[in-house]
Amino acid sequence: SFEVKLASSGRIITVAKDQTVTKALSDAGVEVQTACEQGVCGTCLTRVLEGVPDHKDQYLTPEEQAANDQFLPCCSRAKTARLVLDL
Ligand code: FES
Repeated sequence: SFEVKLASSGRIITVAKDQTVTKALSDAGVEVQTACEQGVCGTCLTRVLEGVPDHKDQYLTPEEQAANDQFLPCCSRAKTARLVLDL
């Protein structure tokens, strides 16, 4: 598991192994708009302020993925113990 921290409120939410980031957020009452939930449409695109995402999507270009400043939380995860999200 890893944690996401919401930049606006400072809240920290744990994302379990068998859970997507969007599911963990929604369980905590934080809704991120989704559509495909498979990393193809880009609807859930979220800015990453700190930490390194583990990109699992097919939406961002390799260059965009390498910049590590945004990710698709419907499918992507984290390489670091925590991601700080612009939410
Ligand atoms: Fe489509 Fe996340 S909901 S990329």
